[in-house]
Amino acid sequence: MSSTHLLSICDLSINDISHIVTLASKLKIEKFSDTLHGKSVAMLFEKPSLRTKVSFDVGIRQMGGHPIYLGKDEVGLGGREAVSDVARVLSRYVDAIVARVFKHNTLEELAMHASIPVINALSDSEHPCQALGDMLTIEEHIGLSKRPTIAFIGDGNNVASSLALAATALGSKFIIASPIGYELPKTVVEKANSRSSNGQILIHQVSQPQEAITQAEVIYTDVWTSMGQENESTKRNKDFENFQITPQLMDLTKPGSIFMHPLPAHQGQEVSSDMLDDPRSVVFDQAENRLHAQKAIFAHLLERST
Ligand code: NVA
Repeated sequence: MSSTHLLSICDLSINDISHIVTLASKLKIEKFSDTLHGKSVAMLFEKPSLRTKVSFDVGIRQMGGHPIYLGKDEVGLGGREAVSDVARVLSRYVDAIVARVFKHNTLEELAMHASIPVINALSDSEHPCQALGDMLTIEEHIGLSKRPTIAFIGDGNNVASSLALAATALGSKFIIASPIGYELPKTVVEKANSRSSNGQILIHQVSQPQEAITQAEVIYTDVWTSMGQENESTKRNKDFENFQITPQLMDLTKPGSIFMHPLPAHQGQEVSSDMLDDPRSVVFDQAENRLHAQKAIFAHLLERST
């Protein structure tokens, strides 16, 4: 199960996930290290980014490394140059590739041809760096050992998939409420349930937000329209109109519950305008924890590849 790449949460064993969260807590305190001393990291981005770009750049520098940002017009991944050639060229210069891509198979192709670790910084299928940062946030606010139930309200998208795989690997129940046609991919449900140690079914699909929320300690949502789906936004806004998280909906949750969102948030769509500032919202802790989790991912992958 262990891999030198991180394309999916499934590239990590259950122990790896726990190890990365523990390491991330440690690195949050010990800010600087020389783990990446003398090493360069290429950051290939086909899509826009705030948190991922800045947190990777800052994290690599805090570890003594050198980030090289390559935006979509600079490389022309798969257009100006074949993905396999980009992977082979970058492997001669740098020590790792962080890539944000439209299609997950671009990452698989990079990984197949690279001789250095490839890290998924978001694809259409998964967002493992987000999920690992989220595990750290849940650890800090609730404690992963309590195996809190997670209610994901919205699209069964990249963020939902990685979160479902990470949370269920650590024994949490994951209840997703989505409109018909926007459920989690079957493959994700099967993979998550197959990792459950005692054959327990940990992923539950429901159709009403209230049904999920009343059972959960962690309430999570994401945008209704992900990057690359912009031409579907009118239909999606209509299909998801009853899936907005508001403080009133949060009142149906268990005491001590938290609200999470990977950001950017669209107020008036998946969240009401007062949700991010609600005392139960931990969204800015989540954003910060991306930095610590990604540093832990580097430390973990380097440990593994040496
Ligand atoms: N699901 C969103 C996440 C952004 C962090 C997207 O892919 O655009």
